[in-house]
Amino acid sequence: MTLIDGKAIAAQIKQEIAEEVNEIVARGGKRPHLAAILVGHDGGSETYVAHKVKACEQCGFKSTLIRFEDDVTEERLLETIAELNANDDIDGFIVQLPLPKHIHEQKVIEAIDYRKDVDGFHPINVGRMSIGLPCYLSATPAGIIELLRRYEIPTKGAECVVLGRSNIVGKPVATLMMQKAYPGNATVTVCHSASKDIAETCRRADIIIAALGQPGFVTADMVKPGAVIIDVGTTRVPSTVTKSGWKLKGDVDFDNVAPKCSYITPVPGGVGPMTICSLMRNTLLAAKHAIYTV
Ligand code: GUN
Repeated sequence: MTLIDGKAIAAQIKQEIAEEVNEIVARGGKRPHLAAILVGHDGGSETYVAHKVKACEQCGFKSTLIRFEDDVTEERLLETIAELNANDDIDGFIVQLPLPKHIHEQKVIEAIDYRKDVDGFHPINVGRMSIGLPCYLSATPAGIIELLRRYEIPTKGAECVVLGRSNIVGKPVATLMMQKAYPGNATVTVCHSASKDIAETCRRADIIIAALGQPGFVTADMVKPGAVIIDVGTTRVPSTVTKSGWKLKGDVDFDNVAPKCSYITPVPGGVGPMTICSLMRNTLLAAKHAIYTV
């Protein structure tokens, strides 16, 4: 069994990006600039955004954090998005989700110029991804695909079972895994809350991508010997061992599943660290105008 070390791969990718930024700046080019909008003080969102700002430093990017209180109006938020769309110094930006209930999340996403949508959430980017055109790929699916690529895991003709059909993980990763490309070219089955006999479906899988947010859902009896297991779950569960009083638990019963499989991602340290790399890569592409030239 090989443990897929997302933390090490993520560090390597950030290093590669930093080297490219150094070359761009040495040639007199512009340093990539990412902006992030954070609304309110949700603990998870604060942590994610802090990590994104730190990753910008590691990659040699400029970053700008724009904060609003929970009671910011939708109108004010949309005005800020319009300013960022028009600001030539900002290559890409994100609005950290979730947003407070009074703000229409989809309206906010669609207000972002798709050429600066480095989260890859805009319907134009999602649509381009689904028909295999160059686009900003959203962070988690792109991170999973990159791990499969870096570990040279065979995917052509593989039976791939995706657990979960969310817009930000399940659906896009299923789309990418069926695309005629490497990694991809797999036969993909997506299971969700209405699926029958998920255990039997999983037992046929060469690759399982678990993204349901149910800690320990994938048990050893659901896994074929030699299968590849990608665990996207990151549920906070109480812990007496950590200082914070909680720890992250994946969707896979790691201790019992790991001995049966060929490759597995740990939680934490698997898919998680890769997601920020995808955002950094998209920001670099945005700065280079590598995808949309108009
Ligand atoms: N909230 C959880 N994940 C993400 C992400 O990838 N991007 C944004 N903007 N918000 C999130």
